[in-house]
Amino acid sequence: MKKELTVSAIRNGTVIDHLPSNITFKVVEILDISGIESIISVATNLASKKMGKKGIIKIGNKSLTKDEVDKIALIAPDATVNIIKDYEVREKIKVAIPKIIMRIIKCSNPNCITNNEKAATKFSVLMKNPLKVKCSYCERIMEEEDIVIL
Ligand code: CTP
Ligand code: ZN
Repeated sequence: MKKELTVSAIRNGTVIDHLPSNITFKVVEILDISGIESIISVATNLASKKMGKKGIIKIGNKSLTKDEVDKIALIAPDATVNIIKDYEVREKIKVAIPKIIMRIIKCSNPNCITNNEKAATKFSVLMKNPLKVKCSYCERIMEEEDIVIL
């Protein structure tokens, strides 16, 4: 008898694939999915030829915002976002770290205007791997380990 756990295909929604297995739940946390009433499936430690082990997140009836896609890029630069319509993969997005990062990360300088007034954060990306960014307001440089996703 074949005993196999499979995650069902979805009719409409988003499949986030090729996640490093150990950060799958971190990606779940940055998504705005608390109000979703459709099925959300999360699987980790799946066998992958390319990655060894991978994680996958399937969210019914949701499309991701650009901010959500950019947040995924920051923590899982090799992820693929698949948009599913009527069971077919309609679009396959390779996530990418933008050259300018707006809103989605916090400046680590407590005196920065973005931490004291209602100003959206803005960073220029100095290096992608490892990630290194510079605040456009106070010029604080932050390395990957200092970066907090909003
Ligand atoms: N998928 C799904 N429901 C569908 C269609 C696809 O859950 N109705 C999932 C697949 O299980 C897969 C991902 O969406 O995890 C991408 O599907 P597809 O492009 O068909 O798979 P691959 O060719 O393996 O993707 P890649 O080339 O990106 O590895
Ligand atoms: Zn700043």
